[in-house]
Amino acid sequence: MKKWYAVIGDPISHSLSPFMHDYWFQQHGIDASYIPLHVEPADLQHAIESMKLLGISGFNITLPHKQAVIPLLDQLDETAQHMNAVNTVSVKDRSFKGFNTDGDGFVRSLLSYPVDKEKALLIVGAGGAARGIAFALERAGFTDISITNRTFRRAQELALETGSKALVMADAEAQLSDFGTVIQTTSVGLTEEALPISLTHLGSGSVVADIIYNPLETPFLKQAEAKGCLVLNGVGMFVNQGAIAFEKWTGIRPDTEEMIKLITEKLG
Ligand code: ATR
Repeated sequence: MKKWYAVIGDPISHSLSPFMHDYWFQQHGIDASYIPLHVEPADLQHAIESMKLLGISGFNITLPHKQAVIPLLDQLDETAQHMNAVNTVSVKDRSFKGFNTDGDGFVRSLLSYPVDKEKALLIVGAGGAARGIAFALERAGFTDISITNRTFRRAQELALETGSKALVMADAEAQLSDFGTVIQTTSVGLTEEALPISLTHLGSGSVVADIIYNPLETPFLKQAEAKGCLVLNGVGMFVNQGAIAFEKWTGIRPDTEEMIKLITEKLG
């Protein structure tokens, strides 16, 4: 019987997940559909119950439901527990298990670039996205992680939890040339021509990443590129978080490089 998968969010019409998963299902000869479902917060519980009733095989969760879905699931894996957020659900015998593949997706994307795990790494931002990435970097063996944030207290809290260092923004800016890798995790650059951190002291040999992928190049990445840094946008993270979900559902590791090209073309 044909299987079905979905992504739930509000809004949902711009999600690229249906394109990505349908492409991979077709590529691997799997008889399945992946459907975008617009679910408003007040309808979340009914939506989850309905998906269970209708025999869904797996789904993704995007904003604003990543936390609210947790009490509606049957099991939670450790990464999702740490992050207190779920972006992927697998289904076994009608039991829903929540995962979070965002942080590991980012790290897989980063590791396709020449980064040195021993060199100092700076995370800009201390919200939900930064949290997933900090835990995933630690699991992947990065040994020297610093966190800076507009609100220093949040950087301190996250640093304490993940065994990293917290830096006030002015110090991070002054010491920027010391970092081999700089990761931008805030929403700054999504809609405005602003930077979350001054890049004046950025060295030319750093790898600089932004988790934003639409626009493909934020003002932050443009400046880093102009400084001669190797830059990566959020397309790789998006594709890799999807690839880890796909693997959990099907046992197949899909081609991420090809998908990064296809999505970059779509957004370009
Ligand atoms: P997410 O889950 O997407 O990470 P979040 O938890 O709301 O969202 O976190 C947003 C992050 O972007 C925070 O680090 C936030 O900084 P504050 O903790 O100081 O709020 C950062 N951020 C958002 N708007 C910002 C701005 N205009 N300038 C600097 N940082 C900003």
